[in-house]
Amino acid sequence: MSPDEYIQQHLTLQGLEPFLVATSYNRVNFNLNPYGLSIKQEYLIDPTHSASERFCDLLLALDSTTFGPEGMPMDKWVFYDICYMPGAVFGFGIQAQQAPQELLDLFKVDAQENVLIPLSMYGAIPMTQRDAWMGHNLCSIGSKLKFRNFKGLGTLSKALGLKVVQAKEFYGATQWSSVALNVHIKFGPLKLYTSYTPAHSESHTLTYGFSCTDHALLAAMGHPDYDFERPAPEQWITPNDQEAMITLQDQIEAGEHFCIPSAPQSHPDHKHQVPIASLASKLFTHL
Ligand SMILES: CC(C)(COP(=O)(O)OP(=O)(O)OC[C@H]1O[C@@H](n2cnc3c(N)ncnc32)[C@H](O)[C@@H]1OP(=O)(O)O)[C@@H](O)C(=O)NCCC(=O)NCCS
Repeated sequence: MSPDEYIQQHLTLQGLEPFLVATSYNRVNFNLNPYGLSIKQEYLIDPTHSASERFCDLLLALDSTTFGPEGMPMDKWVFYDICYMPGAVFGFGIQAQQAPQELLDLFKVDAQENVLIPLSMYGAIPMTQRDAWMGHNLCSIGSKLKFRNFKGLGTLSKALGLKVVQAKEFYGATQWSSVALNVHIKFGPLKLYTSYTPAHSESHTLTYGFSCTDHALLAAMGHPDYDFERPAPEQWITPNDQEAMITLQDQIEAGEHFCIPSAPQSHPDHKHQVPIASLASKLFTHL
């Protein structure tokens, strides 16, 4: 099956509208038909136009509904200064007139209102390294909704968002405790840049990266023809094991290379445990 056929037939996407928040001057550098998926003109939202206000407020509501419990909800200026202007936000939504009551209630939207209700978003910011992007925000309300199974929505939003901005290399930061690691690892083994990050408000943050090849994006989205070879884990880190994080960080700063080869696994006393493997050679082109 061709990548375009696979994406267009993807069950999670049926009935959902892709959207993009980006300025017109950033948009000219983007791929607005990722794997043949088209974004309707009305869902190309320009944050420098005042008509974007309502939708941007709903994105903020999506962010606080999903991130709120994790303790890192964002303010509007953070979206505008750090993501909308330099980068882009891509995601999927449902028109209010087609939305079930569950969704209207959650976002406090009237059924007659002409607005897209966002279910997921992926925000990314360009870096000074050519074609390299940094993840700014990933959220999906898919698993919280009862009216339909949206499994895969977070991963699809990240993969298609990276295709839209035409990223070649990707960097991201997340917490050792985050369930989002289950999304990120779908893009292949994750090269570790930091394992202990006191410059971040959460020092138990890890910084990771991968190359955004079509192979990586399609494998992440579950295309059956694409997969990865994953190194065997050599050690496991639990979300509160600061000593192990610092030891690994010291090794990284001394020039050793490590990756998270595969998904976190369950642990009897912790949220999960995260596998680590050393990289004998430079497997990643952006090092
Ligand atoms: C993390 C988040 C984006 C996942 O969205 P989603 O739409 O559920 O993601 P997907 O359906 O694509 O799931 C991808 C994988 O994550 C797993 N996953 C999702 N939520 C999970 C949870 N609460 N616990 C364990 N695994 C979870 C899924 O099972 C799936 O793995 P599998 O295919 O091996 O079963 C969403 O839960 C969210 O918005 N969380 C709050 C914000 C956040 O933490 N953002 C990430 C910042 S780095």
